[in-house]
Amino acid sequence: MTPDLLELAVVVPTFNERANVATLVARLDQALAGRNWEAIFVDDDSPDGTAQAVRELGRIDKRVRVIQRIGRRGLSSACIEGMCATAAPIVAVIDGDMQHDETLLPRMLDALQADEALDVVVGSRFCAGGGTGEWDHDRVAKSALATRLSRRVLKADLGDPMSGFFMIRTEIVRRLVPTLSGIGFKILLDILTAAPKPLNFIEMPYVFRTRTEGESKLDHVVAMEYLIALYDRMFGKVIPVRFAMFSAIGALGAGVHFLVLGVLFLLAGMSFVTATVIATVFAMTFNFFLNNTLTYRERRLKGFKQLLDGWVIFCVVCSVGAIANVGMAAFLHNVQHGDWRLSAMAGIAVAAVWNFVLSSRFTWGR
Ligand code: GDD
Ligand code: MN
Repeated sequence: MTPDLLELAVVVPTFNERANVATLVARLDQALAGRNWEAIFVDDDSPDGTAQAVRELGRIDKRVRVIQRIGRRGLSSACIEGMCATAAPIVAVIDGDMQHDETLLPRMLDALQADEALDVVVGSRFCAGGGTGEWDHDRVAKSALATRLSRRVLKADLGDPMSGFFMIRTEIVRRLVPTLSGIGFKILLDILTAAPKPLNFIEMPYVFRTRTEGESKLDHVVAMEYLIALYDRMFGKVIPVRFAMFSAIGALGAGVHFLVLGVLFLLAGMSFVTATVIATVFAMTFNFFLNNTLTYRERRLKGFKQLLDGWVIFCVVCSVGAIANVGMAAFLHNVQHGDWRLSAMAGIAVAAVWNFVLSSRFTWGR
């Protein structure tokens, strides 16, 4: 390869890694000595000022730059944006906290440059020579479960599909971007499962290091997002994730409705109509907040004004949905004279689709 052509981009997703960026750049500089590389940090506007720290490094070393995303969060989507922002033919993704072994990078690069048929090199904790370092029992068990699930989706013999450390041909990613889910932490799994024909990969072992600065962002929300992403890959084409979540929350809302109605009507002796109105408002409010934090978490409404407006629109949409529900069920029941349960279900289905389509457009459609 001509020495002054850019060979490699190293994409580093960061959130609150200020204390780590300078060390990481120094280590990349050492590991990739003699190679033509650049580092692209993708920072989600970290409150600790990570982006600014990278900019300061970038003035000294022009190979280093940062994409500072405002009002967005997410490891996978950050990696995707970073990978799309380079002219280098090959791109690596590595964590910003030094838990991945950057000394593997030159060998990964050699492997891809030497073999045209090779698409991806995966840094692997779960093959001979690799390891998870100082993980406790709990994390080992959770990781093993997540890895088993992911292998089932992947249908390929890859030891560590959950790895966040890999190198790939940029053009492959660019082609796959429209079909990537971009949800959660599992960017590699996302890429591998999105590819129309299986990608050629090899694994290189490394030992996951212990974090010394800052803290992990892998929490319950991330775990939930992982399950969502798996669902999306397995059944997403049949029933879209968002609609499935919206419906599940709707079912919970029906439970809330019955609970409140029972308490007010049976226990407190309120009139049925008043109790029903209160129960309905309760259930709609419950659904609104749950959908706002889960189903539409990346477009979440915040602050009093946004929440109030969103809530009002949501209630209006759902009220029309309820009328559609009754109308549909009554129509089927009276005209078709079919099974009353089928009529009821058809009514619920119509209302669910109506509520989903209109609220995603008008309540959360910014
Ligand atoms: N831009 C951006 N946005 N970066 C993020 C975000 C985010 O929302 N969340 C985390 N990061 C960055 C972190 O700053 C870090 O550089 C890297 O992504 C990994 O995040 P950690 O929070 O350190 O993750 P971990 O060490 O618990 O998980 C690692 O191991 C998993 C397997 O067990 C990661 O490598 C995962 O990708 C991997 O699947
Ligand atoms: Mn980490």
